[in-house]
Amino acid sequence: MKSNKKFFKKSKCLPVDKFFQNVLYDKKNGYYNSKLPIGSKGDFVTSPKISNLFSEMIAVWIISAWEVLGRPKKINIVELGPGDGVLAKIILEVFKRFPEFDTSKKVFLFEISNLLKKIQKININVKSVKWIDSFEKIKNGPVIFFGNEFFDAIPIKQFIRKKGSLYEKYYLLNSDSEINEIHKKTSKRNYDMINSYSSLKSLKFIEFPKYGFKQLERITNIIANQGGCILMIDYGYLKSHNQSTLQSVFKHKKNYILNNLGKADITSHVNFELLKEFFVKNNLKIKKVITQKQFLENMGIMKRAEIIAKKMKFIDQSNLYIRLKRLLSPNSMGNLFKVVLAYNSKTNNFFGFK
Ligand SMILES: C[S@@+](CC[C@H](N)C(=O)[O-])C[C@H]1O[C@@H](n2cnc3c(N)ncnc32)[C@H](O)[C@@H]1O
Repeated sequence: MKSNKKFFKKSKCLPVDKFFQNVLYDKKNGYYNSKLPIGSKGDFVTSPKISNLFSEMIAVWIISAWEVLGRPKKINIVELGPGDGVLAKIILEVFKRFPEFDTSKKVFLFEISNLLKKIQKININVKSVKWIDSFEKIKNGPVIFFGNEFFDAIPIKQFIRKKGSLYEKYYLLNSDSEINEIHKKTSKRNYDMINSYSSLKSLKFIEFPKYGFKQLERITNIIANQGGCILMIDYGYLKSHNQSTLQSVFKHKKNYILNNLGKADITSHVNFELLKEFFVKNNLKIKKVITQKQFLENMGIMKRAEIIAKKMKFIDQSNLYIRLKRLLSPNSMGNLFKVVLAYNSKTNNFFGFK
């Protein structure tokens, strides 16, 4: 229990988002700075780790988006939250096969964890790639941002609406170093912020990605000024609901949210109705949110699998299709994961979104 104390730092009481920001991303004790969380030896697996075909589809999508943007001579590509770097590694390999695009592109990786940055540098091993902590360096030309499971890894705030007032959920460290949940009436600023979103109006229990939206505001400003788009793939739902979606995973199993702090991953499900409203408020256009299954199939993942399977032994073909099933199955990642595209461009015939 004493180990809980370090995540509160100097305070004894923190709102949910600040507390989990410390638990996940503290430079010394944070989960993402202590170990490699992704893969069979970690706590969870992501789509790029399941099949390279996922990453290939994203690479082809990025090149097609560059075409939609008018094949600019300078195009900035930014991956948000690159994990162990495997998605970027495959994407860079695909880019090499498209020389005109390859010479036009500059690739940036936006990563908060120093440990993951080191792992990404080793895994990617390409000199031209730049790591960034902020977006100020991306000055010229349109920008294509993309992220897989970036937004669901950014801590959210939680609120309860009672008799017209809003109370925020906090964690309080008691004298036995146990953690209790308490609710405090929120500030006028937070109250106005929540009430400015029509998708949250009728809710009694509200999840709000204040920190995530701060990050996205910087991104949407760049896209609104320089042109470009953002493609996000996340675990989430289409219609706002009254549920807590915070969840913790430890060694590939569900874990009580306050157990194994600093050793387990903590995420929330993304509210795509709210996210869409956010993008529109921030002057971007959006495509209809689709599932990962629809996106990958629209991008031609099955055709690509057929082509590469022809040269494979039976055992490798089986492995390929088992992995694809995991990515596409409606009961699994196929429907749970959703894809949103927000953009500022003259034309809108982006691939993958019918
Ligand atoms: C769940 S992992 C996803 C990894 C990877 N995209 C994949 O598909 O395997 C979340 C990633 O986002 C990064 N991240 C989370 N919050 C961030 C922030 N505020 N700024 C930059 N990176 C962040 C994490 O360190 C990690 O690399």
